[in-house]
Amino acid sequence: MNKVEKYHLLQQQIKALSAGETDQVAVMANVAAAIHLEMGFWWTGFYRVQNGELVLGPFQGPVACMHIGYGKGVCGSSWKQGETIVVPDVEQFPGHIACSSESRSEIVVPVRSAEGEIIAVLDIDSKDLATFDEVDKQWLEEIVKVFE
Ligand code: SME
Repeated sequence: MNKVEKYHLLQQQIKALSAGETDQVAVMANVAAAIHLEMGFWWTGFYRVQNGELVLGPFQGPVACMHIGYGKGVCGSSWKQGETIVVPDVEQFPGHIACSSESRSEIVVPVRSAEGEIIAVLDIDSKDLATFDEVDKQWLEEIVKVFE
């Protein structure tokens, strides 16, 4: 299966498993697990907006930093800018927060509520350089609409 086929399947799976579920954390947990296993990434998870900062939420992969400030790192920057950030080489991103020395590239996608407010970010890390492109951006932005 190529990347597009995998994302297509993932989206169907995620829609099905979240249907009728109102607990956001439960859905985040399954979304992180589904993406992580299907795509084989190094770290896949959510940081939730809590009291003016990002706090670690459901994830798959090695232990990670628990608090990230507004505008800090890739996650805090994506939250502040309100848009997806694709980082082909984390060493080239000023202020990147290295939770794992194994991470080489990263994508962060804002997660919005039905009201359009950013409630979390989806952060995915890869052990390889330049893993994420426009295809990942488009599909992941589609997938996080499950929280709207
Ligand atoms: N690298 C992220 C921090 C979170 S870890 O990658 C899981 C950042 O710069 O915001």
